[in-house]
Amino acid sequence: MEKLIIEGGAKLNGEVRISGAKNAALPILCAGLLAETPLVLTSVPALKDVASTIKLLDTMGVKVLQEADKVTLDASEVGSFEATYDMVKTMRASILVLGPLLARFGSARVSLPGGCAIGSRPVDLHIKGLQAMGAAIHITHGYIQASTLHLPNRRLQGARYYMDMVTVTGTENLMMAAALADGTTILENAAKEPEVVDLAECLNKMGAKISGAGTDVITIEGVEKLSGANHNIVCDRIEAGTYMVAAAMTGGKVKLLNARADLLDAVVEKLRDAGATVTHDDNSITVESNGKLKAVNIRTAPHPAFPTDMQAQFMALNSVAEGVAKVTETIFENRFMHVQEMQRLGADISIDGNTALVKGVEFLDGATVMATDLRASASLVLSGLVARGETVIERIYHLDRGYEYLEEKLTQLGAKVRRSH
Ligand code: EPZ
Repeated sequence: MEKLIIEGGAKLNGEVRISGAKNAALPILCAGLLAETPLVLTSVPALKDVASTIKLLDTMGVKVLQEADKVTLDASEVGSFEATYDMVKTMRASILVLGPLLARFGSARVSLPGGCAIGSRPVDLHIKGLQAMGAAIHITHGYIQASTLHLPNRRLQGARYYMDMVTVTGTENLMMAAALADGTTILENAAKEPEVVDLAECLNKMGAKISGAGTDVITIEGVEKLSGANHNIVCDRIEAGTYMVAAAMTGGKVKLLNARADLLDAVVEKLRDAGATVTHDDNSITVESNGKLKAVNIRTAPHPAFPTDMQAQFMALNSVAEGVAKVTETIFENRFMHVQEMQRLGADISIDGNTALVKGVEFLDGATVMATDLRASASLVLSGLVARGETVIERIYHLDRGYEYLEEKLTQLGAKVRRSH
């Protein structure tokens, strides 16, 4: 089992290039199923979740060519419309093939994602939205069996659908399904995350007619077919946020290249409240700090509010900041898995329901800790960067799901971190 070994205390200085966004790449790769001619993507991050998605598409008959960060998808000869339990259990975002398979082929058999570390994470809104478009859906033996064969021209029908919870992949699945539907679909209470916007931009390049992405009402006018296109994946705002917190906590000056501050307003504001200096231009962000930060209250909510994917990172910041702060998680019901591990490092955190009270301590002390989910592992890395002595993080496959070349990028900034096999 691979581990990450970090010697705390080094300030981070220099430049780091932010990769393409994992949470944009995953839906956009699945959008490749919709196109009759090749879709060419650049800035696709080298992550385990991306590799899993490409493997899934390959099993369906999509021809995938990967050359560094460029991926070409040819879905002209798809023969299987199934995402098995083995696939979905390793990556729940596999659910994103459901909409495209139904839209283009009229049939899909996708395993229900099980629960995951951070919560039950049902997909009922994905299913209800597809049913609103006329899909016949049965849940049998843990699989979603979906079909449009009973519909006129075997096509989904445009519909108006209100999502009673803001769901990112739910919005993405339904947007992809609606792109080839017969008629117009209006998605209300849609997710406004930048990754939803990036998917809509890619779909429109492929010939879709989508408007309103980035607002809570998205209108999709169905078209007959979609073609391939060229699309560069938007930068990863969560990877950027993670390095920004690392710079602020260690007390250094770090410039993030290929980073957009306009995707991170809430995070930039909180870092400034904590006492870091944050400046930016159109495609870079610079964070400078003396390492002496003030604790900041955090409350997660859908974009553009403070992102749940940055909650664990700010828990780490608060654990060594001056003062006391409340961290409230409103999106997932169990996203405090990192707390027990951080307490092993000496953090003073108490949990009351979905709110954690964090009292800043003078020092964290290195220890062996265990990663439990992607962003929780990031908070352990951040804690290790400032802890006294050595921190060993086990089960770092969680990190490899969402952070490209993590130890290389951190080492380049001056951190003392290495991977042990
Ligand atoms: C996406 O997950 C991201 N993953 C998550 O990032 C992110 O944390 C999350 O959005 C929230 O921003 C990808 O984009 C691949 P949701 P998603 O559907 O779409 C409930 C990371 O670290 N819900 O927006 O699965 C759900 O239980 C990952 O990169 C339903 O009840 O999240 C949750 O409480 C972790 N029924 C809330 O809505 C549904 O049908 C938001 O979930 C769908 C969702």
